[in-house]
Amino acid sequence: MIENNIPKSVKNICCIGAGYVGGPTMAVIADRCPSVKVTVVDINKERIDNWNSNDLSRLPVFEPGLDKIIERVRNKNLFFSTCVGQKISEADLIFISVNTPTKTKGIGAGQASDLRWVESCARNVAEFAKGFTIVVEKSTLPVRTASVIKSILSSTTSNSEKKNFAILSNPEFLAEGTAVNDLEKPDRVLIGGEDHQAINLLEEIYLNWVPSNKIIKTNLWSSELSKLVANAFLAQRISSVNSISALSEATGADVREVSRAIGLDTRIGEKFLNAGPGFGGSCFKKDILNLVYLCNYFGLHEVAEYWNQVIFLNNWHQERIYKLIVKKLFGTIIGKKITILGFAFKANTNDTRESPAISLCNNLLEEGAILSIHDPKVSKEQIKKDLPKFSYDMEKLNTSGTWHFSGNIMDSVKGADAVLLITEWDEYKDIDWKAISCYMRKPAWVFDTRSILPRELIRKTGLNLWTIGDGYYQN
Ligand code: NAD
Ligand code: UGA
Repeated sequence: MIENNIPKSVKNICCIGAGYVGGPTMAVIADRCPSVKVTVVDINKERIDNWNSNDLSRLPVFEPGLDKIIERVRNKNLFFSTCVGQKISEADLIFISVNTPTKTKGIGAGQASDLRWVESCARNVAEFAKGFTIVVEKSTLPVRTASVIKSILSSTTSNSEKKNFAILSNPEFLAEGTAVNDLEKPDRVLIGGEDHQAINLLEEIYLNWVPSNKIIKTNLWSSELSKLVANAFLAQRISSVNSISALSEATGADVREVSRAIGLDTRIGEKFLNAGPGFGGSCFKKDILNLVYLCNYFGLHEVAEYWNQVIFLNNWHQERIYKLIVKKLFGTIIGKKITILGFAFKANTNDTRESPAISLCNNLLEEGAILSIHDPKVSKEQIKKDLPKFSYDMEKLNTSGTWHFSGNIMDSVKGADAVLLITEWDEYKDIDWKAISCYMRKPAWVFDTRSILPRELIRKTGLNLWTIGDGYYQN
């Protein structure tokens, strides 16, 4: 239990993990709480060096608006450091914001979360923390992880130095690409815990910019579970609308019109109803797998199977798009050049984790295509890591089953048989299709998996166009 060494307010925050969540979240906290010192620590030196770089284009995370905040607060009350132990010892509140990927080996492999990084944080906190420390789960975790953290912390507090801990759950709901806006104007902030003084101290931080009616307090387990369920519901919506895109194509309907028609029902709501190439990102799949694992663990096999279908549909949908491309290109793509527009899992991020581009490109390369890949923010080095089975063709010699990176859309479509749009970057909305059509080998195809390209304009140029969920032109 907490003793009377509890501080009146939080003055010193340490966040363990300088990734997509830790970096932007702490930047916004520092910006909104000038009297609080915030330090983000990480074991990855390169990442910390990049957060500290004067060249803001080297920040490890690309988020619209983030560079401006970093410029304002870095080295004032926001710091990035690799001195994990020292910064833990100085903090009165610690966010654990490290990666929690799916286990690849052992019990629960392929489903359960790998908690080794969280455990190692808990051990570090147990060793280095001083006095009373609030430990906050920011990472997305399986339900009841707080009890694991609690037992690690309590087993190491029996030494001569007095240490007390309060453990809270405060999951993050930001989406990449809109992280700054999501953090500055959250739909809600969720705090789960038992220790009311600690909850109030964390709440005070958020009250600097979040209205009190948006701060929800629950018990620890509800908070941990709510995060998994929020992601599962969002992903379920994407699988639902993608399933209807296939039916729209088969029946002559247009999924965009269907989405609009159902979305205007306020009970359904209009957000998150865009059919696409299948959901990507580091969290939807891993969090649903985690939910499935938990359901099975508690003997709720039917519930587990229900949620598993969301992932099954997503995989099927990506496979469906790839097969459809091969079919439209006369059943063979060996030696055919396909331009890939967008490699990030969504627009306005440089993140490629679980991007649908990875499975689509892998399948197309496996079939023998030559890919020319363009993305405004993803680097060639990152794509090399994501497509390890296939050679990067530096000379652009156009060997079957190879790919090259293109910084220029016009260059990348020269002699191409098809353009495949995967990420909905704004700059793809204003392409000069007349010029592109002249460069491509006929008959040429445009595959728009996001339904963002001008349909009539493209058709007028003589290009064949397939748009996700548009059955009108396919019947
Ligand atoms: P990330 O991989 O970008 O960053 C995690 C960082 O933690 C890495 O830089 C890693 O080096 C560091 N780290 C790991 N162990 C460490 C240790 N013991 N000490 C110091 N640093 C350590 O991950 P992320 O995308 O920021 O996600 C973090 C958590 O937040 C995950 O649980 C994720 O599910 C959750 N989440 C992510 C998002 C998102 O949009 N990416 C949104 C909401 C929640
Ligand atoms: C998602 C959630 O939206 C966040 O609330 C959550 O905090 C985060 O996961 C997390 O826990 O990591 P994120 O994955 O960054 O955020 O991005 P989303 O906007 O949710 O998009 C996820 C995927 O769904 C993307 O591939 C996106 O292109 C796709 N999507 C989204 C669609 O295909 N259609 C839509 O209408 C919306």
